Amino acid sequence: MWKDHEQAINEATKFLRDRDIIPDVAVILGTGLGNAFIKKMKVDKTIPFNQVPNFPVSTVDSHKGQWVYGALGNKKILVMQGRIHYYEGYTMQQVSLGVRVMKRLHVKYLLISNAAGNLNKQWRQGELMLLEDHINLQFENPLRGYNLQNDGPRFPDMSGPYSSHLNKLLIEIARDNEIKLHRGVYASVAGPNLETRAEYKYLQTIGADAVGMSTVPEVLVANHCGLPCCAISVLTNDAYADNLEKTGLSEIISVANRSEKNLTVLYNELINRLKI
Ligand code: HPA
Repeated sequence: MWKDHEQAINEATKFLRDRDIIPDVAVILGTGLGNAFIKKMKVDKTIPFNQVPNFPVSTVDSHKGQWVYGALGNKKILVMQGRIHYYEGYTMQQVSLGVRVMKRLHVKYLLISNAAGNLNKQWRQGELMLLEDHINLQFENPLRGYNLQNDGPRFPDMSGPYSSHLNKLLIEIARDNEIKLHRGVYASVAGPNLETRAEYKYLQTIGADAVGMSTVPEVLVANHCGLPCCAISVLTNDAYADNLEKTGLSEIISVANRSEKNLTVLYNELINRLKI
């Protein structure tokens, strides 16, 4: 089974490499996010996930499920437009396969976005949060099992899972462009249901500022294989336990769509300022 994992990564990598995909930076776009970012790119190739060997298919309507390769300024960008979630029924190795492939394609930086519930009462729906740390509450871990020794160690350090270099640049860019960018802790849950009041309260109590169903598996694998990464949450719904309103996917998507513009400015300018 574990040999299959390595083989699956190598086959998917070969498929993309054979199509002359040589990216500098990779981006994973979350729920309701992505159209604005892709529009800024000079797109060279679009490859649906289901064409890539061993690659899981995104089963969520709000996720397109394709690789987009192209240029942004003088950099080559590989985008996962739509991500794979654990709640879709895939294994953690499948969820994070794309990150291992990126590393083998010699990507230098990984930029992640997601939609998340806002647990911090000082902040509001529609604002953005830069991840400074996370709490992993998913049941499974993509690093469990046979360790891909050539990628990284058995017990990877997690004292700084988000690149301080990328975060510093993002904070500067937000300031320069007058974009409100909070900094906080993201809790990753398995989903797919949203949380109960008691669960939101618990998440606030343990120190989380935002909660979502993704990102941490990819960040764990990026750290394992030494790929510097950053992540931004779009806070799509206020999840204050004592004043909770009903929420659903359509609201989450519409708020994400509205906040996409600021996220796009941040990531475009970050890519522009990166020295590769
Ligand atoms: N909880 C979990 N995931 C989410 C939420 C939430 O409130 N909002 C967007 N993704």
